[in-house]
Amino acid sequence: MTFTGRFAGKAAIVTGGANGIGAAVVARLASEGAHVMVADVNEPASMVEGAVFQRTDVTSSDGIAAMIAAARERWGRIDILVNNAGVGALADIADMEADLWDKVFAINTRAIFLCSKAALPALEESSGVIVNVASISGLFADFAMGAYNASKAAVVNYTRSLALDCVSRGVRVNAVCPGLVETEMAKRAIADPIDREFWFDRIPMGRAAQPEELAGVITFLASEDASYMTGSIVVADGGITAHTGQPNAPIRQKLRASRQG
Ligand SMILES: NC(=O)c1ccc[n+]([C@@H]2O[C@H](COP(=O)([O-])OP(=O)(O)OC[C@H]3O[C@@H](n4cnc5c(N)ncnc54)[C@H](O)[C@@H]3O)[C@@H](O)[C@H]2O)c1
Repeated sequence: MTFTGRFAGKAAIVTGGANGIGAAVVARLASEGAHVMVADVNEPASMVEGAVFQRTDVTSSDGIAAMIAAARERWGRIDILVNNAGVGALADIADMEADLWDKVFAINTRAIFLCSKAALPALEESSGVIVNVASISGLFADFAMGAYNASKAAVVNYTRSLALDCVSRGVRVNAVCPGLVETEMAKRAIADPIDREFWFDRIPMGRAAQPEELAGVITFLASEDASYMTGSIVVADGGITAHTGQPNAPIRQKLRASRQG
């Protein structure tokens, strides 16, 4: 597929851009003309044309300062910041250690404040945009995911606060809430075919998203097509949060009828 150059001449930073959703965002931005910095603790397996790697730990203020300085030095501008780096943690309250709780918040939540604050002067100069990657787990709760749920709920509401702080500076801020996306983070949960069926059964669209499907939403929010959007929380979840969780009554009726007939 060929794309038009929506981001021609623009410079973008994607945290956690080495894998999964971040890597798909990097590829999409670059394919539409942007210069892109992959800011990640891990080096990507391969690099698309137009992208550069800057080893960055988003929990480190010094690392973030170096990331911003490198982008400004290389391109003289920053137009787009995608705060995507994130980690999951499966532990209920009895098993949750304070250190793990702090780590989840440091990467998923605090880093968004640090990266946005550091990028703001450059974004203000370019009338740029911030897109935060939250989760539907920031809108509702999951079993044994308290730290993740709380960290992503904070991202959702911080997106609104940040949008208000930035509006007079001409910088738009929005968030996307993905449902299940087939990346390393999710692969562990759905590797086993039985687990996979169990997960997919709860998704009205009956499948996980591919990272590229989230990249489409994130780059839309980063583009001029979303010029009147700020403080918006955009859900892309195959219908999970549209559903009360009650059973599919017509399917159950058909099953009962087929058993009786
Ligand atoms: N996969 C899903 O089902 C799903 C669902 C909802 C939300 N999300 C969110 O989407 C975002 C991306 O997740 P993904 O599924 O692509 O995960 P992933 O594990 O495939 O990629 C995450 C990337 O973040 C990087 N990273 C981790 N800690 C970092 C740090 N301290 N500094 C810099 N980079 C760091 C990793 O090296 C990795 O490249 C996360 O914020 C995640 O919470 C994912």
